[in-house]
Formats: sequence, C-alpha cells, structure tokens
Amino acid sequence: MEKDVLILAIESSCDETAAAVVKNGREVLSNVIYSQIALHTEYGGVVPEIASRKHIEKINQVIEQALKDADKKLSEMTAIAVTYGPGLVGALLVGVSAAKAISFAADLPLIGVHHIEGHISANYIENKELEPPFLCLVVSGGHSHLVEVKDYGEYKIIGRTRDDAAGEAFDKVARAIGLGYPGGPKIDRVSKEGNSDAVHFPRAKVGNAEYDFSFSGLKSAVLNHLNSCQMKGEEVNTADIAASFQKAVVDVLVEHSMDALSRYGYKKFAIAGGVASNSSLRKAFEEACQKEGIAFYYPSPVYCTDNGAMIGAAAYYEYRKGVRHGFDLNAVPNLKLGERL
Ligand code: KG4
Ligand code: ZN
Repeated sequence: MEKDVLILAIESSCDETAAAVVKNGREVLSNVIYSQIALHTEYGGVVPEIASRKHIEKINQVIEQALKDADKKLSEMTAIAVTYGPGLVGALLVGVSAAKAISFAADLPLIGVHHIEGHISANYIENKELEPPFLCLVVSGGHSHLVEVKDYGEYKIIGRTRDDAAGEAFDKVARAIGLGYPGGPKIDRVSKEGNSDAVHFPRAKVGNAEYDFSFSGLKSAVLNHLNSCQMKGEEVNTADIAASFQKAVVDVLVEHSMDALSRYGYKKFAIAGGVASNSSLRKAFEEACQKEGIAFYYPSPVYCTDNGAMIGAAAYYEYRKGVRHGFDLNAVPNLKLGERL
C-alpha cells in the first residue's frame, strides 16, 4: 500500500489567514481559518497594509492550530504547500515566508500553489468521484473565469471578465445600497426578501468573445437606478434591487457556462470561489444542469471562500507530478493560471 501523503497547506493571499492538513488530496484533517473581515468592514473593503500586518500576527498560531486539530506533528508531514499568487503581494509574502521557513527547518519539500487552482481543487474534497476533465466556473472577489480542467494541474481559460470580477460587483453594489462589506453574503441574504423581477438590469455580452464576462455596466446600471430614484424622490427598495442585481449576475453566469458546456461537450461541471456559495447561483445551476443531463459539483460554503484545505488538495496533485519549489519561491501577485515559476 502506498504511504499516505500529508500536506500542511497555507493560504494568505487576501484577508483570510488559513492553514490546513490534507491527506491524499481529498481528506481534510483540519482547516483553520482566521477571517479578517471584521477588521476591514469599517473601511468598506480590504486594506492591503492591514491585511499583511494581521497575517504576520496570526500565521504561526493558525498553523499550530491546524496541526493540533489534525492531531499530527510537523515531523509527520510529507510536504508543505503555500499559495504564491495571485493576490496581494504583502499578504502572499507572509504565507510564502512562513512556508519557506518551515520547509527549511523541518526539511519538508515545498510546493507553491496557484490560488485559482486551489479554488478549483476545493471540489475534490467532498466529491470523491470527481476527476478531470470537466468545465469549471471560478467566481471570486478577484476572478471570473470559465476554465477547462483538462487534467490535474492542466487548465485552459476559455472565458474571463473584461472588467470587474463577479464578487467585486457584489461588493460594490452592496456598498452602494448600504449593505456594507462583504457584499456577497449580504446580497444573498437580503435577496430572499426581494422581487428579482422588480428592476430589469442589463445582461452584458462581450462582442466577439462569447464566454467573456463584463460586470461594470451592470454595476453602473444599479448606480443609475439609485440616482434616478433619489432624484424622483422615490423610495428605494433595497431587497428588490439586491434580488434584481443578483438575478442579472446569475443569468449571465448560467447562460455562458451552459453554452460553453454544450459547445465543448463536457458532461461534468463545477463551480468554485466565494461567489459559488451564492444560494441563488447554486439553485440556478442545479436546475440548468439537471435539464441538460450534466453532473453538477460544488464545494460547501466553507471551501468556496479562501481556505487552506483547497490549497492542500491542489498541492497533492502537484506533489504527485513531482513539482517542488526552491527557497527562491517568491510571491507573484499576477500569477497566471497554468504558469509555473
Ligand atoms: O474566493 P474568495 O474568498 O476570495 C477571492 O479569492 O477573491 O471570494 C470572496 C468574494 C467576495 O467578493 C464576496 O462578496 C463573495 O466572494 N461572496 C459571495 C457570497 N459569499 C462570498 N458572493 C455572492 N454570494 C455569496 N453568498
Ligand atoms: Zn480566493
């Protein structure tokens, strides 16, 4: 029998300080997340300098807790993995430096992981039968990508956002209608009390790139609607606007994904990233995929937003491929998916 591969994985690319212990890529032994959301809320978004400082304060504690929760010692680990991009450079550097120090001190192989590869791999944790090839929609605060997952670690992006990411649109609209940061979960909640047909917001198409997304026009349409209500002295119904905006985002994401699934002939579809925890998006995909006979996969909300377990899942397949990084591993804020440095 092959020896178990135990990976200690670190994630610090944005505002979550996270570490996890993952066994053989799919079994999460621990998953510790220190969320900085409360700290950034009063600024209406993530403040990079504050994020880096808090990561420094918390990282050792979070790593120790991950080992403790897994009931494992550092000496029992097979490798150490860390997100090295994309993300906020100062935030990434904290995780990368911690991982390098542990790799050196405990003599463990070091594996740098792409953050989006982590999000996609979150699907492997609870869907033991899921294997590539499949199509994946990655929708987070920084990314909106339609990705062909051709094999483990082999990706082709067939659609991307031209401006705002889906999560960014949620956050900006939430701020405009007074819900605050982070917008996604708040809009999700408030929308349940609203009428999604109350206001018709535009569903943007991007000229010659049919799988690309554009959300900035939608955001402007919401702002214009708010302004015009104000000028006319009409009362603004927050729940209706939230629900109508959310419906516009969901419609575009579903339409693009279903078109791509049919064009490329995939029978398996997964979603990933913070926005993938949106209840209305999940429901819409469940219905659309069922109608088309496509198997639909999604992670639990805790594995949708940033976490260490997803990095451990991705790292396992990189480890199996023989990927190892040296102590010259650096944070790469604009790392491209599929690119190896
Ligand atoms: O994946 P993630 O934790 O961080 C990035 O890598 O960007 O995603 C965070 C984003 C935020 O924009 C947040 O508003 C959005 O995911 N989000 C949601 C929901 N939960 C988080 N958006 C819509 N509905 C949700 N339930
Ligand atoms: Zn993320």
